[in-house]
Amino acid sequence: MQHLREGTTDMGDELRVPVSHFVSPEHAARERQVLTRRPLIVGRGSEIPKKGDFITREVLGVPLIVVRKADGGVASYVNICRHRGGRVENAESGTKRFFTCGYHGWSYACESGELRGVPYDEFYTRVDRETHGLNVVWTREWQGFLFVNLAGDPGQPIDDWMGPDVTAQLEDLGVADSEIFLHKSFTLDINWKLVLDGAIDVLHPKFLHPGGVGKLIETNTSVWRGYGPHGQSFSPRTKLGDLARAGEEPEAAWKLIGSNLFLYPNASVIAAPDHVEFWSVWPDPVDPGRSTTEIRFLVRPEILDERMEARLNKSWQILEQAASEEDWPMEVTIQKNSEAWPQGTYLYGRNEQSCQHLHRRLALEMAEVRD
Ligand code: FES
Ligand SMILES: [Fe+2]
Repeated sequence: MQHLREGTTDMGDELRVPVSHFVSPEHAARERQVLTRRPLIVGRGSEIPKKGDFITREVLGVPLIVVRKADGGVASYVNICRHRGGRVENAESGTKRFFTCGYHGWSYACESGELRGVPYDEFYTRVDRETHGLNVVWTREWQGFLFVNLAGDPGQPIDDWMGPDVTAQLEDLGVADSEIFLHKSFTLDINWKLVLDGAIDVLHPKFLHPGGVGKLIETNTSVWRGYGPHGQSFSPRTKLGDLARAGEEPEAAWKLIGSNLFLYPNASVIAAPDHVEFWSVWPDPVDPGRSTTEIRFLVRPEILDERMEARLNKSWQILEQAASEEDWPMEVTIQKNSEAWPQGTYLYGRNEQSCQHLHRRLALEMAEVRD
């Protein structure tokens, strides 16, 4: 409220990020090394509700199958046949007891990834069933999210990695029991960090979205809270700004404040009045100038009715229009410009704490990878 009354915002230091960080293949390869060592959210548990349900995903170029096991737990396998490298599952989702490779018919148990069937196995000297199962990837379900860690056990429970502040925020939003209302995916010619920057940037709404969200959200008044690797940006609606500037102190002011909870390294939970937007942004495994953004609307099923469905569809339209007609074209231009002129740095001002966070944290972890 003080920021609104005084026309100020949270401030820290400035940050200069080399333009090469958005275009250099070497830099992108080192980023991928960092990302493989961190739990990444690949989906929601509600996508695989019953025993034998699976989804397939490509995570930093690695094809995975994520399954629901008989005991209610989850597991992931590398979707690469141990015979000669075929995919053992091609569908995006489904329910199976076995995954069978289309090349020569080796089959693997959904429950454990163990090798079960080898046609013509008399022609191999010995195919040890125990040691020829699908490679297993560390997987956990937490607050309804499915996490994988490509580099193996991260050595820390998810609870600790996310920390009490993130946990409390997700609990407040009822995320654990929310279900997917819609799920869309967009592959764009934009470095993944530029997409995340754009989604959390509090300095642009008035300029880039003058007729839309720029009218609803205050530009350049925000509060940033760092939660270790993660963090949260709070932005007041213009309605709250108007009240504050008029010297009023509304009760339940929090209802007029939007928030963006950044889950390091590549996801965001954006709170809306009756749902949350869950964003995850995936760097292309090869091209630094390309990424895939997944957006899911998560809703608490107990409050979903027809009127709310209509509201959610309308919200989606507004979001998609702003993103695809305003944010992403701007970011595509920045990507092209960065490739055209990869020297120098981009400047993140003292008021851009939310955008700075990802770049600072990545730099820290990339320095560790190099040592
Ligand atoms: S590559 Fe899978 S069965 Fe041969
Ligand atoms: Fe925007």
